[in-house]
Amino acid sequence: MRLSEYYLPILKEDPAEAQITSHRLMLRAGLIRQTSAGIYTWLPIGLRVLRRVEDIVRKEQDAAGAQELLMPTIQSADLWKESGRYDGYGREMLRITDRHEREMLFGPTNEELITDVFRQTVRSYRDLSKILYHIQWKFRDEVRPRFGVMRGREFLMKDSYSFDIDFEGAQRSYNKMFVSYLRTFAKLGLKAIPMQADTGPIGGELSHEFIILAETGESEVYCHKDYLTYDVLMEETNYSEDLSETVKKWTALYAATDEKYNEKKANQLKDKLISARGIEVGHIFYFGTKYSKAMEATITGPGGEIIYPEMGSYGIGVSRLVGAIIEASHDESGIIWPESVAPFQVGLINVRSGDTDCDNASNDLLSKLKNAGLDVLLDDRDERAGSKFATMDLIGLPWQVIIGPRGIKNGYIEIKKRDTGEREDISVDAALSIICG
Ligand SMILES: Nc1ncnc2c1ncn2[C@@H]1O[C@H](COP(=O)(O)OP(=O)(O)O)[C@@H](O)[C@H]1O
Ligand SMILES: [Mg+2]
Repeated sequence: MRLSEYYLPILKEDPAEAQITSHRLMLRAGLIRQTSAGIYTWLPIGLRVLRRVEDIVRKEQDAAGAQELLMPTIQSADLWKESGRYDGYGREMLRITDRHEREMLFGPTNEELITDVFRQTVRSYRDLSKILYHIQWKFRDEVRPRFGVMRGREFLMKDSYSFDIDFEGAQRSYNKMFVSYLRTFAKLGLKAIPMQADTGPIGGELSHEFIILAETGESEVYCHKDYLTYDVLMEETNYSEDLSETVKKWTALYAATDEKYNEKKANQLKDKLISARGIEVGHIFYFGTKYSKAMEATITGPGGEIIYPEMGSYGIGVSRLVGAIIEASHDESGIIWPESVAPFQVGLINVRSGDTDCDNASNDLLSKLKNAGLDVLLDDRDERAGSKFATMDLIGLPWQVIIGPRGIKNGYIEIKKRDTGEREDISVDAALSIICG
């Protein structure tokens, strides 16, 4: 992609409305624009990142045995009246009336809808266990939408729903999602810690929020220091095996959100206690037969008896993650994308566009990198070198390759790694082999 043609509306100045770094950088680097309070348009470079996050989430859901479907954004109010949540959900729900005066709503979550799909289609215990998920826009009319995509009104969520014939089955499904969440966030370059969260009237231990530590986080959290050194990607995961050991390891030490804060347990950790702010990037929840009973979603058991399936739901804030990754990975010059979600892997800077040697070398390297399967953004604009460097640092691509007249004469180019800032003058071939790694 050539920057001279690319749609990348960057901002030179800090936007006044942005209170936190990720929001400021997402606006400045041309990822999003607000269209009304808490509602955003994703511009091309932002959409690239959103899609890559989505892909990583999807791959790990699939690996865990969850199956993707796509439910609509607009739902019938009748389903929510059946579950008893229509009135209780309050003003956060965007209620809509269609031309026939039917009450509809823009889905803030999908427990009712998936339970309805399930009761229409599943009859026998033989069909369970199942985990179904989709990645779909949600709307919640938040009182205070803020911090950009972190707390939006329209936002992209991955939500999964599990159905099992008994508690043991539900627990196995819960463990699969628990482990898949650990792996998903690690692959996104994040240290997300599962923390005990409120289970409401259901009780029990089966509710965890996955939290990344960040000063700008909205929640107050407490956890054991050692969790920061745990590495989940080192272990192979076979989702058909018993995962309870991994879950045990990740729940043995204290980690809780403020709703579940326990002074005694926290104090016992002494200097091992971290008390910090955190961003909730995922939330998993077992709620038993709450919806299957309320909505009469039954199946028949081996002896013909009626069973109300045990359910759980599992959310990941896909669009929030884009902001959360930036909160975790930036410096004063801009974003530092982890390789796994970067919109392009390489930013090529032609320091002197219009100079025949520089143009030829740039075009040549662009095609070589593309042939090697990399996504490349070439800055071929007629701009000062300083402004090109600043733009590249701002948009945060993992590798920068700088092509200038002096280097070309002497047979070298410069490569720079965005995260460490290390620079090196090397030959084109050496650069290719380093970047293609
Ligand atoms: N207003 C929002 N804007 C962006 N992401 C959100 C918003 N609300 C929830 N999410 C994301 O969706 C995930 C699942 O939502 P859920 O746990 O139901 O939300 P909440 O904890 O706010 O009630 C959350 O962990 C969070 O990452
Ligand atoms: Mg939550």
